[in-house]
Amino acid sequence: MAQLLTVSRAAHLIGVTRASLQKKISDGDLASFDGMVSSEELTRLFPDVSLEESGAFERITKIKEEAFGRRVRERLLPNQEVLAQRLAVQSEELEDVRRHLAHYHDLIEALRERIETVATGAPSDQLAALAGFLDQGLASVLGSEEPTDTVAVMNDMLRVVAAQVIVRPSGREFFVEGSETVLKAALRAGLVPSYGCGNGNCGLCKARVVSGKLRQTHHTDYPLSATERAQGYALLCSHTAESDVVIEMLEANAPGDIPEQDVVAKVRSATRLDGEVILLHLQTPRSNRLRFFAGQSVTLGVTGSTMNFRGDYPVASCPCDDRNLLFHIRNDDGGGDDFAQRLFAGAIKPGDAISVFGPWGDFVLNKESTRPLAFIACDTGFAPMKSLIEHALAIGATDTLAMVWAATRPDGHYLANQCRAWADAFDDFRYLPLTATHPADAAAASVRTVVKQIADFANFDFYVAGDISFTPAVIDGLRAAGIPAERIKAVAY
Ligand code: FES
Repeated sequence: MAQLLTVSRAAHLIGVTRASLQKKISDGDLASFDGMVSSEELTRLFPDVSLEESGAFERITKIKEEAFGRRVRERLLPNQEVLAQRLAVQSEELEDVRRHLAHYHDLIEALRERIETVATGAPSDQLAALAGFLDQGLASVLGSEEPTDTVAVMNDMLRVVAAQVIVRPSGREFFVEGSETVLKAALRAGLVPSYGCGNGNCGLCKARVVSGKLRQTHHTDYPLSATERAQGYALLCSHTAESDVVIEMLEANAPGDIPEQDVVAKVRSATRLDGEVILLHLQTPRSNRLRFFAGQSVTLGVTGSTMNFRGDYPVASCPCDDRNLLFHIRNDDGGGDDFAQRLFAGAIKPGDAISVFGPWGDFVLNKESTRPLAFIACDTGFAPMKSLIEHALAIGATDTLAMVWAATRPDGHYLANQCRAWADAFDDFRYLPLTATHPADAAAASVRTVVKQIADFANFDFYVAGDISFTPAVIDGLRAAGIPAERIKAVAY
């Protein structure tokens, strides 16, 4: 029997982005009914999709392969109680369907007997035809060899290993896997929910459960009032989803919705990516993480020093990992960046406390757009692009991405492997590196690369980051190539 699925769920099962399914709907290739699509239609449209190729199957295969890897198993599979509950719900549904089928079968048999009885002694062509019609119908149903609705089967399996969460009022959807908390799953899916401590103390992640069931995963110190509990409120950082759920949750929709924060993080590592760039890895306390949008920046400062060593940097990691913050810091020998000078002098070491203040800036993804995305960066302007790309991939913003990375040093593509890995992993990810001696030349070369190597560049949204002699020149070049100003977002450092 065909199942109706939300577009997000269908995309998850088929292994394509939500944007590409939406395009098929708007092109008329895929019918939708009140925003839902049929599993039968999906099976017809994607005949090659199979359990073996679906993400759900891979997860299960991985679980099987690592059956004795306790950490992996705990991360990917729901705990036993949740699993048992989900199986119980599916078994009840199956039993319901069986009961109905048996009932309909009995009804058909009774109807046939009644027709035979009525027809006895009073032959009637019409009654005989009706009896023949019923016999034929039963034979075709019982002997049916219709192909299996693969998508429906995969959907049943997904319902056991992962729960779907639908958020009101935004209508966004995501999946809770294993025993992860609803908050963690929301962040992993690229949502920007309201939260603070992440461990049940502040109450900022409070949300109302409209339908479905959550299960508490750890103790919390935040007291929900009796009224809140009666209204169905729960802390998302302390609960996993036992079944598919609908929740009312506060989300940040724009940079202005996230308050400025002052977090003291610890240096995990400071690794030279090449002679001129250091990858700084900071880790926040569990109970005081940084909320930010992909593409935003923060101010880093050395704490406990009488000197005010500070610098402003874009975050180079995804907001989905809010504890581990990455930065690409360029050598600023002789410049005004005290923090970078101290870092390159070796005075900032693992274990040191660093104050992180922010986030700030509105260089963030336009979440209303489903256009292809082109990222144009010069040197460490790559840092916010990495955050934006990871976020775009997490939310399935589009199937088509291009990264134009201009370097003003011959070895300046310090994370070229990362770009090549994206190009390998995604069907339509173009990595276009180039070198130039000066940012202004790099700007002209970047625009030429876009125009020459991206045939349909006029359809793209553009994100541009680099220094002050790069970014404005790229904007001018794109505008001259016919790109409207509202489809260019840019930041200069
Ligand atoms: S984030 Fe603080 S209680 Fe959940």
